[in-house]
Formats: sequence, C-alpha cells, structure tokens
Amino acid sequence: MIKLNGIEKMTNEQKYKYMLILLEGQLSSEKNDLANLSNAAAIIKAVMNRLNWAGFYIVRENTLVLGMFQGMPACNRIQIGKGVCGTAVATKKLQRIENVNEFPGHIACDSATNSEIVIPIIKDDVVYGVLDIDSPEVGRFTELEEKYLVEFVCKLNKYIDWPKV
Ligand code: SME
Repeated sequence: MIKLNGIEKMTNEQKYKYMLILLEGQLSSEKNDLANLSNAAAIIKAVMNRLNWAGFYIVRENTLVLGMFQGMPACNRIQIGKGVCGTAVATKKLQRIENVNEFPGHIACDSATNSEIVIPIIKDDVVYGVLDIDSPEVGRFTELEEKYLVEFVCKLNKYIDWPKV
C-alpha cells in the first residue's frame, strides 16, 4: 500500500522527491504496466496539490489515445499536432503552459483547467506518448514541477514497455 502520512508538512520540493520515491517503490515491486501507470497517475494527483487532472495519452496508430488517469472523464483521442498534448508529440518538446486559454488550439477536456504541463515520453528518439497534468490555477507549474516531472518520466521509461501498454 502507498502511504502518504505526513506529506502535508513537507515543502513542495520535499513532496516531489517523495513522489519519485513512491514511484520507484511502485515500479520496482510490480511488473504489470497497467497497474504501474494507474498508480503513477494516482501518485502525482495525490502528492502534487492544486491539480484537477493527471494522466497519460499513448501513441497508437499515429494518434494519441487516452490512457490511465485521475480526474474528470477526458477526450479519448487527440491528433498529433493538435492541442497542448499533440504539440508536445509533434515538436518532441515539453509544453509548460501558464494559461491554457491563451494557447491556440488548446483542447478543453475539463473547463476547470487553466494551466497545463505536458511531458513527452521519448525513448531512443521515438515518442510513445505524453504525461499530461492540468491545474485550475493559472501558472501552477514552475521550473520546480518541470524538473521533477521530467525525472518522473525518466523513471517510468526505465520500467514501462510502452509499445505493449
Ligand atoms: N488539454 C489537453 C487535452 C487533454 S486534457 O487536458 C485531459 C490538450 O490541449 O492537449
């Protein structure tokens, strides 16, 4: 069982370090990718406060398809190049969007979302999907969140067999 006792007393940086420890614990104790990605989304949503959505979109037949997530029901498919997620895949670049209402073509799955960070999942130059995190707060994601979420994806990359998810 994943324990979160005492996390409310931690600084943001301590929380994000702990988030990586929880992820490592999960990935090193379970082989099933579905279980691992489900708990990976749940770990982010539980540890990082002021979020309304955290989850994965996976590349399938040249489209992003909704994967494991925590939050409101979301768009099933996103075309590569469309929205923040599709842009992260097309450009192979992390997207940290201060205010999604100012992002041309932003796809509003949950109208509560005001800022978003999307980390492309890349292994050997192939993009397998994205980790997408939304917040109701404008400017929620700073360089600090970016740093630890990039590490989070690096850790996932060591364990997850993306083409088989
Ligand atoms: N806002 C995203 C779509 C996915 S939802 O936020 C869960 C985008 O513009 O790609």
